[in-house]
Amino acid sequence: MAADFDTIVNLSKRRGFVFQSSEIYGGLRSAYDYGPLGTELLRNVKDQWWRSMVQLRDDVVGIDSAIIQAPAVWEASGHLSSFSDPLVECRSCNSRHRLDKLDDPDRCPTCGNAGTFTEPREFNLMFKTHMGPVETDENVVYLRPETAQGIFINFENVRRTARMKIPFGIAQIGKSFRNEITPGQFVFRTREFEQMEMEYFVHPDDAPRAFQEWVEARRDWYLDLGMSPENLQLRKHEPDELAHYAAEVYDVDYRFPWGWDELEGIANRTDFDLKAHMERSGEDLTFFDPETDQRFVPYVIEPAAGATRTTFAFLLDSYREEEVRGETRAVLALDPRLAPVKVAVLPLSKKPDLVDTTEKVAAQLRGRWQIEVDVTQSIGKRYRRQDEIGTPYCVTVDFDSLDDGQVTVRDRDTMNQDRIAIDRVGDYLADRLPG
Ligand code: GAP
Repeated sequence: MAADFDTIVNLSKRRGFVFQSSEIYGGLRSAYDYGPLGTELLRNVKDQWWRSMVQLRDDVVGIDSAIIQAPAVWEASGHLSSFSDPLVECRSCNSRHRLDKLDDPDRCPTCGNAGTFTEPREFNLMFKTHMGPVETDENVVYLRPETAQGIFINFENVRRTARMKIPFGIAQIGKSFRNEITPGQFVFRTREFEQMEMEYFVHPDDAPRAFQEWVEARRDWYLDLGMSPENLQLRKHEPDELAHYAAEVYDVDYRFPWGWDELEGIANRTDFDLKAHMERSGEDLTFFDPETDQRFVPYVIEPAAGATRTTFAFLLDSYREEEVRGETRAVLALDPRLAPVKVAVLPLSKKPDLVDTTEKVAAQLRGRWQIEVDVTQSIGKRYRRQDEIGTPYCVTVDFDSLDDGQVTVRDRDTMNQDRIAIDRVGDYLADRLPG
């Protein structure tokens, strides 16, 4: 079972992981700002995804496409006609709900009255705005609701310039926007969020194999980064829940405090998108394989994850409370690759000699890892803070350090302490931390 929802929301605010957007103006619902620690954690999640999806593979390259694209993209992709959720409004209290997410489709969860809903209407989730100074229908553009279409419309550009041969993938990380009817559960469902998506182009006959391979690879990515196996499951979509473009989908689900919910979807999108863009644009997006002398429209296997949602899941999953010498210790047992701060350097007191030595230690480590130097409060309180933000190692400079040239390195998980020569601290940590 993941950590308690309120505990993580409070920790996020208190330690500076996540803040409500526009907080000084009362807060904007469903948008969030990432503080210093949240920014590092989110960045580490994205870096680990990029490393496994692009850097460690010969068959995947990355792009960074625009958020605003030609409206024809969304016509072709089917988002203008089909990217909607069923919206009902309560005639009694005027609250709005997503019909397919209600426990009882006849009872309003806000006021408790039954039989008060309007007929459901399909509500398109795309944010609309205007391009240029004139607000006319001709100037309407949309903020992208998924990063995927920026990949499809660049299929030929990337294939040609990166000289890719099928099977190959194009990966992208970036912001997406959805005017969700019922945002909520903190950063789980927001109207502005970040996605990590990869479109893997294959021969149609190869699609079932590639699909299976990516489903397993993506589940393993979460496990490799330390997510608890008992909080992770694969779930096959029923035919009636498949998105308009998908032939088959598996979700990687996480056991959130409110139950199992989606972290990532892996879809077989067939040739739906490339065909749709070929028809709408008139461009040739087929692939010619000289080895088989065959021309075909590639099928696409798409692992689509949420960076912000995954960051939240790692916070929930890594939180522990344990009894240590009669006191409760809260720890984020994050994998060191994800931890926002890798090493904290802590002088036992603010005496100038100790602070000078602390700075010497810090200079050795800075530039290799994200470090924090903390001189305030008692050493016990500083350890508690570092445990609670998931820092794998604390290096303490004490009065003996001035005489013996050694410091104490404390391990977050075991709380074991090793006495290490100052000029060896970098090597000692390099053996234990990612580069
Ligand atoms: N290109 C396919 C696609 O966008 P999706 O299942 O709608 O598929 C992929 O989105 C992932 O993006 C989800 O599994 C989730 O992690 C994340 N995501 C989607 N909507 C979100 C929202 N409103 N807030 C936060 N994350 C969201």
